[in-house]
Amino acid sequence: MKYDVMLCKIAEKKQLTADVFDLTVEAGELAEAASAGQFAQLYVPGKTLRRPISICEIDRAAGTLRFVFQIRGEGTAWLADACPGGTLDILAPLGNGYSLGNTRQKAVFVGGGIGVPPLLEAAKAFGENAAVLTGFRNEESIILKEDFEKNGNRVLIATDDGSFGYYGLVTDLLKGLDFTVIFACGPVPMLKAVCRTAAARGVPCQISLEERMACGIGACLGCACRLKKDGTEFYGHVCKDGPVFDSETVVWEG
Ligand SMILES: Cc1cc2nc3c(=O)[nH]c(=O)nc-3n(C[C@H](O)[C@H](O)[C@H](O)COP(=O)(O)OP(=O)(O)OC[C@H]3O[C@@H](n4cnc5c(N)ncnc54)[C@H](O)[C@@H]3O)c2cc1C
Ligand code: FES
Repeated sequence: MKYDVMLCKIAEKKQLTADVFDLTVEAGELAEAASAGQFAQLYVPGKTLRRPISICEIDRAAGTLRFVFQIRGEGTAWLADACPGGTLDILAPLGNGYSLGNTRQKAVFVGGGIGVPPLLEAAKAFGENAAVLTGFRNEESIILKEDFEKNGNRVLIATDDGSFGYYGLVTDLLKGLDFTVIFACGPVPMLKAVCRTAAARGVPCQISLEERMACGIGACLGCACRLKKDGTEFYGHVCKDGPVFDSETVVWEG
C-alpha cells in the first residue's frame, strides 16, 4: 500500500443536500496513485484522529480528488465549513478499492445513502455496461444521480417513502436485472441482502465496509473485522485489507 500525506488546496465546494457536502481538492500525486473505492484520512484541527472519507471521484488529468460526505459529528461539520482557497491535510490513498476486472461485462452497482459516493469512480469505468441502483430516504436525500448518468450508467432510484422512483428497498431493484458482477456500498442490512442475491445467482460481488477507524493504515486494532478464507476464520483490518472485500470473505457479526 503506497500512501502519502499532503496539504491540498480546496478547488471547489458544493452543498448537495441539507447535510451532504461535496469537496474537490487539488491533490497531485495522491490523485495519480488513487483508485476507485479507496479512501482518505482527513485531518480536522483539534482532533487527534483523522476522519475516513471515501474517494468519490479521481481526475488524474486535473490532479484532483473529490469527496462527498454527510455531517455526522464535529469533524464532518468542520469539513462542511471548509471553503475553496483553504487547505486540507490529507493522508491518501488508503486501503484496497474495487477490483474492476473486465469493464465490458454487465455490472450492477448498489448503493445506499452516503454509501453511494464511493461507487462513482468504479461505475465510470463501466459506462453504459453498468446499472446503478441507489436507495435514499426520500427525494430530498438523492445525490449524484446526474454524475452517474454523465458516466453513461443506467440509474434506478428507490426511496423509502416513495417520493421518487421505486417505492421500497433498493435491493428489490436487483430482481428484474441481468448482470454478471455486483459492486456495493451502504448500510449493513443492505449489504447482507446484496450478498444473499449474489450467492443465490452465483455472481461475484465486492462490498465496501465502513468501520470506525483510528490510524487508517493497519497500525492499531481500531477496525478489526472477521474474515474467512478456505473455511478458516481470522481477524483482518477494514482499513488495510479493505474497505472493499469479496462478499464471500466477510463474516457478518450477529
Ligand atoms: C472507509 C470509510 C469510508 C467512509 N466514507 C465516507 C464517505 O465517503 N462519506 C461520508 O459521509 N462518510 C464516510 N465515512 C464515515 C465517516 O468517516 C464518518 O461519518 C466520520 O468519521 C464522522 O466523523 P465526525 O467527527 O463528524 O463524527 P464523530 O462521531 O464525532 O466521530 C468520532 C470518531 O468516530 C469516527 N467515526 C464516526 N462515525 C464513523 C463511521 N461511520 N465510520 C468510521 N468512523 C467513524 C471518526 O472518524 C472519529 O474518529 C466513511 C468511513 C469509513 C470507515
Ligand atoms: S484503523 Fe488502525 S488498524 Fe485500521
